[in-house]
Amino acid sequence: MTQRTVVVVGGTGLAGRAVVEEALRRGHRVRSVSRHVPPAPRQVVGAEYVAADAVAADAPERLGAAFDGADVVVDTVNGETPATAKVLTAGAASIALAARDAGVGLAVVLSIVNVDRGAAIGYYRTKVAQERVYQASAVPTTLVRAAQFHDFFDRFFGSPTLVGALTRLGTVPYLRGARLQPIDVTDVARALLDVSAALDAPLDGEARDEGEPGRRTVTVAGPEEVDGADLARRWAAAHRSRRVPVGLPVPGYGAFFSSGDATAPDARYGRVTYDEWLARTAGA
Ligand SMILES: NC(=O)c1ccc[n+]([C@@H]2O[C@H](COP(=O)([O-])OP(=O)(O)OC[C@H]3O[C@@H](n4cnc5c(N)ncnc54)[C@H](OP(=O)(O)O)[C@@H]3O)[C@@H](O)[C@H]2O)c1
Repeated sequence: MTQRTVVVVGGTGLAGRAVVEEALRRGHRVRSVSRHVPPAPRQVVGAEYVAADAVAADAPERLGAAFDGADVVVDTVNGETPATAKVLTAGAASIALAARDAGVGLAVVLSIVNVDRGAAIGYYRTKVAQERVYQASAVPTTLVRAAQFHDFFDRFFGSPTLVGALTRLGTVPYLRGARLQPIDVTDVARALLDVSAALDAPLDGEARDEGEPGRRTVTVAGPEEVDGADLARRWAAAHRSRRVPVGLPVPGYGAFFSSGDATAPDARYGRVTYDEWLARTAGA
């Protein structure tokens, strides 16, 4: 293994933290960049933390300093509201520009499985725009399109805010007809680090690999295909919840998730199953 300097923009987030941990485990020097630097007890030991806002006026200088000496920049930022989404577009442009100016050899960008088939979903359109910013940039780029994370479904099954009224009514709401292939964030982190090794680095597992080095798109999903009802039942059992799974139509999302576009049967890269993830997290 060659030691490299890996900068993770969004390194304090769900996926980003897993990338920081995996990069350190592989022996790399690691720098995490985000708007907020977490207090010491919440930092990953061995990583360097740098504060920079990718959409602020001082982004070019801040990101430039953070990328100094970097071999790879991994972009795991997120912004899901109209007010924060510009980190995926204007932010991507600033990150790509700063990476080029710093002589970074590769940008690795975390995206979503088959995202270009989800035009009915506003967030997915923004993610496609993010991908295009990188692909049109001067920085060699590998996009890693991952299936939904195991954690993602907690938003529906357990969230007191997003679907609070429904959970109070005694249901575990799930997307009716959804076909899924969820992946663990630790497996997503492995994939991001596998491809970070070189423009044409192989993945340690089954993945869909398209495009050419420097403009490459890799797709990774979890080890099993499941439907939304099954996932909700497993969630309820693991949480010893007496709430009853109920399938609901979700306008805009239904077609993508019921068509199989959220799955990638040719990319069973993930090793951790949903049940293993539940065993680790339910009641934790
Ligand atoms: N959830 C899923 O199932 C799933 C599946 C496939 C792909 N993805 C993709 O995975 C990516 C990461 O998702 P996540 O759930 O890990 O995100 P997350 O937990 O919300 O983390 C987002 C990270 O971005 C940082 N950030 C936000 N705005 C920033 C800004 N203006 N400048 C610098 N840093 C900023 C945040 O730190 P600060 O707030 O401190 O800045 C944080 O470190 C997303 O792009 C998403 O599309 C998600």
